[in-house]
Amino acid sequence: MERKPTVLLIMGSTRAGRICPKIAAWVADIGRSCTGHAYEVVDLMDWPLPMHDEPGIPAKGVYAQPHTRAWSEKVAGAAAVVFVTPQYNWGYPAPLKNALDHLHREWRGKPAAIVSYGGHGGGKCAEQLRQVAGALKMRMAPTAPGIVLSDAVIREGAPVNPGEDFGAYVESVRQALGELTVQMDEAGRSE
Ligand SMILES: Cc1cc2nc3c(=O)[nH]c(=O)nc-3n(C[C@H](O)[C@H](O)[C@H](O)COP(=O)(O)O)c2cc1C
Repeated sequence: MERKPTVLLIMGSTRAGRICPKIAAWVADIGRSCTGHAYEVVDLMDWPLPMHDEPGIPAKGVYAQPHTRAWSEKVAGAAAVVFVTPQYNWGYPAPLKNALDHLHREWRGKPAAIVSYGGHGGGKCAEQLRQVAGALKMRMAPTAPGIVLSDAVIREGAPVNPGEDFGAYVESVRQALGELTVQMDEAGRSE
């Protein structure tokens, strides 16, 4: 049986008490319901990538550390990625930048989409991420849903239930994942 192409949902947050896993699981469920791909949530907590132990520049693709080689294999083996990320101080979280910066060629031509969230939807974080993805020559889905969190969630830790709270964003997530599929098809054609 032919294996389904795997889309990695890379979570931007590694923070204690984060809501990212709930949002990533919700995005994955939408993906499974509207495309024929496999969706796997990637928690950067499971991929420790120290910032100080790779002597070479990633663009050369020669990695000294087994954890970098494992990360390289993980990303290279994926058909596409979705960054599911909060906005922190108008940018995206440092662990996500670090995970991007550990590799280079693995990202090149990789179809990608962004789902951001924050008090205003995380648009500034998505903008920065898009710029970096451009440097890495990723194939970006144009639609980047930005989920607005309430003050109660951000300041008082009110529980989040994406299935109930984020109905208004289902269509834009579907749209982004549909565009990602187009990018995946085009990437397949250009191989
Ligand atoms: C360090 C930090 C910086 C933040 N900066 C912003 C911000 O610039 N804009 C915004 O809308 N929300 C900001 N927030 C609120 C986050 O969007 C909110 O806490 C969200 O739940 C974080 O995602 P997480 O729980 O998955 O880590 C910030 C939160 C943290 C922890």
